[in-house]
Amino acid sequence: MADKKKMSVAEMLAAARRADSKQGGLGDSATDGNADAPAEPSVPAAAAEAAPAKRPAAPAKPAVKPGGARPSVADMLAMARAGKAAAPAAEAAPAAPAEKPAPKPKPAAAVKSAAPAVAEAAPARDTASILAAARKKDKPGPISKAEAAAASTSATAVLEKPKVVAPPMPTKPAYAKPKPAPAVKAAPVEARRDFFGSAMAAGFWLLGGVSALWTLLTVKFMFPNVLREPPSKFKVGFPDAFPAGQVQEKFKAQYGIWVVNTEYNGQPQIFALKSVCTHLGCTPNWLEAEQKYKCPCHGSGFYKDGINFEGPAPRPLERYAIRIADDGQIEVDKSRTFQEEMGAWEDPASFIPV
Ligand code: FES
Repeated sequence: MADKKKMSVAEMLAAARRADSKQGGLGDSATDGNADAPAEPSVPAAAAEAAPAKRPAAPAKPAVKPGGARPSVADMLAMARAGKAAAPAAEAAPAAPAEKPAPKPKPAAAVKSAAPAVAEAAPARDTASILAAARKKDKPGPISKAEAAAASTSATAVLEKPKVVAPPMPTKPAYAKPKPAPAVKAAPVEARRDFFGSAMAAGFWLLGGVSALWTLLTVKFMFPNVLREPPSKFKVGFPDAFPAGQVQEKFKAQYGIWVVNTEYNGQPQIFALKSVCTHLGCTPNWLEAEQKYKCPCHGSGFYKDGINFEGPAPRPLERYAIRIADDGQIEVDKSRTFQEEMGAWEDPASFIPV
């Protein structure tokens, strides 16, 4: 039979509407107990046969309210979904022509309170009961915010680990402690200022000194050098201060001469001998005990009148010009020399006769 085939909700709705419209059209006849009237010719036979079989609530006429009003489409749909909840109402309805047992209705939890009669028959399924059932079965289910907060708090309290209290650190021994760095004494600000001030002053003084020296050297460069020599003419005293046979040495250090009063070629005279060896220019010494001039360099010897007689000296000592000055003193002039080998000692300018 074709009514064995399961019908979808849409088909059930269509059948319910058709049945509704049929009842609406035949209201009078149905009310008059003409319930066995043949189906509307416009409804397909399969659908018409399936409609009472698929809809447990529709043929049961649960929609027939106590007041005799017909159930609406919503009510019929609710009953179709109500399943067992609509069973009592189905029993109250006239026997359905269904040949097969009515399909097991779905849980009434999905049915809303659109059908009051069905809702009264269905057990109460509110959110709390659903949650309780879900918890009893240890299945996660929807819970309220407050319950979730309470659950999280309890879970946190359970999962919270006890705090581990660390033991106190042992005290560091003295050798493990870092040694403090030696304090560097910073120079006071005033001392630093004095130091920098003195350094700057010293620098300025040095710069000034260098500048002054540079100026003096520049001025000296602008003028020619002057050779400052002792005067070539000088007075040694009166002739009485030079007795006969004496060699005066007191002018040797200052003027480099001996003033001698002795005979030369049998003539007594005063003359001035140059105290320079004729060998290599050393300074001979007058040896009073030996009555000679002796050169310390190579041993040359000279008589009292200056004639060489020993050693490497090749010639006699030289004389300077000498005369009696206007004041009666003896004046020596070193600008003129007289050499014995040249016969210059015969020149009257080379001696003062006594
Ligand atoms: Fe006087 Fe040589 S320098 S002997």
